[in-house]
Amino acid sequence: MTDIILDSDIAAIAAIQGPSSLAIREWLEERYRLGYRNWIYVSQQSEILKQIVADLDRRKITNSRKVAREALHSLLQCCMWLSSLSEDAMMLEDSDPVAAGLNKAAKRVGESTVIATKMEDRLSRGLPFATIESLMDVPIEQREIRMVDLGCQQDRIRAGLERKLHSILHHREFIQGPEIRLLEQRLANYVGVDECIAVSSGTDALLIALMALGIGPGDEILTTPFSFIATAEVIHLVGATPVYIDVDPRTGNLDATRLEAAIKQTTRLILPVSLYGQCADMTEVMLVADRHHLPVIEDAAQSFGATHYNRRSCGLSTIGCTSFFPSKPLGAYGDAGAIFTEDQALAKTMREIRSHGQSSRYHHLRLGINGRMDSIQAAVLLEKLSIIDDELDRRQNIADRYNDSLDDLASQTDLLLPYICDGNRSAWAQYTIQIPGRDVLVKMFSEAGIPSAVHYPNAIFQQPAFLRDINDCPKSIELANKVMSIPMHPYLSADMQQRVVECLYSSIN
Ligand SMILES: Cc1ncc(COP(=O)(O)O)c(C=O)c1O
Repeated sequence: MTDIILDSDIAAIAAIQGPSSLAIREWLEERYRLGYRNWIYVSQQSEILKQIVADLDRRKITNSRKVAREALHSLLQCCMWLSSLSEDAMMLEDSDPVAAGLNKAAKRVGESTVIATKMEDRLSRGLPFATIESLMDVPIEQREIRMVDLGCQQDRIRAGLERKLHSILHHREFIQGPEIRLLEQRLANYVGVDECIAVSSGTDALLIALMALGIGPGDEILTTPFSFIATAEVIHLVGATPVYIDVDPRTGNLDATRLEAAIKQTTRLILPVSLYGQCADMTEVMLVADRHHLPVIEDAAQSFGATHYNRRSCGLSTIGCTSFFPSKPLGAYGDAGAIFTEDQALAKTMREIRSHGQSSRYHHLRLGINGRMDSIQAAVLLEKLSIIDDELDRRQNIADRYNDSLDDLASQTDLLLPYICDGNRSAWAQYTIQIPGRDVLVKMFSEAGIPSAVHYPNAIFQQPAFLRDINDCPKSIELANKVMSIPMHPYLSADMQQRVVECLYSSIN
């Protein structure tokens, strides 16, 4: 089942809610409840209101303009505004420019989008125009479950997103525009630190942080081997050596009780990762680091929004680095990241490194990179930041629902559910279970049409490019064979979640 645009006549009928429109309205509501989109084209707003008013006047209903506005407003509980763009108006040579504009708008939404109309001349154009009856004849299928559903989130913030993106088209400050400064202030505020530096990705955030701390050849960095490759990659990029500390098998995070014994003369930094959205044991990490006067970078690429004893991830160590990769708890529409610190001197250095080591225009104090975030990503992030707390609550509710529904299964089998340590509130970037024979389960999920992912199938030192790294981390290898992430995003409906749970019960039992 596809996206549908209601032509003005159908929108007017559906808005009025008379006996003749009841079936249409119920059908639109059912589609919307199942996650399908019903659109009303913005350019037709006045035409729709005109048609509703005409109908109300015919039926001698008083105050028809106000009633019409209310009727249209109530239709928006199961429909959304579809923007028109200037290209839609470039169809004046067409005998029906509105139909041509609608056609353009439908193509933008997606090739399979249909425009429901009663107008004979539009129907005679063929697809995408179709009768509402022909569409209502097709049964509404269950929607496909996604690991991460960015579409639902986009629907929620569409108006604000479009406004901000259009504003950039007009002011044209694509690099270091006003959105960047505003985002940096808001992010610093959110995390509760003085300084935030918006950068081009989570990987660049880590790289810039390492460069600012002067990490280089001969330096050893204590880190986790159970992470996305970027964590160790940046250590090698600056010429330093990762020393892997095995993980706590319950959480997948670096086991901080192993740190002290690993510290040597050459140790220069501790780099824990807050995996799946849950902070590593930052209290213990910071105690050890303070005892040995070592700086700490928290790789918080997956944990923006999480808290550790009521303090936010990214603000728990010397430098916090996060990623705004689109699927992250706070995600841009491309690559982006941010760095956080309380240290003003470090912040200044990192701002310079972000922009080719420049302290002022064409004056290059130090070696740097091109690591700037662009204004468009900042605009997207500003809009998404306004709903992150609600989204984090939704993620928590979804995790609670998984925990409740899977508890029985976990008590009867080898299935392990995510373990959240005391003092932590996870951002639930992933809901990751552990199960022996994981690969068979992944296959069964795929056959049942339910997505899953493995974060990560190998410890970093098992990757071909990192085989030279020294390691003694059996727990990480064991985890890599057992972990499996199941769908998790703020808009996962109870019905969809139930389908995932049922699939787990039938596959494991
Ligand atoms: C733990 C960790 N570190 C670093 C990164 C790198 O972030 P980016 O993809 O924004 O460069 C990621 C991204 O997935 C990650 O999960």
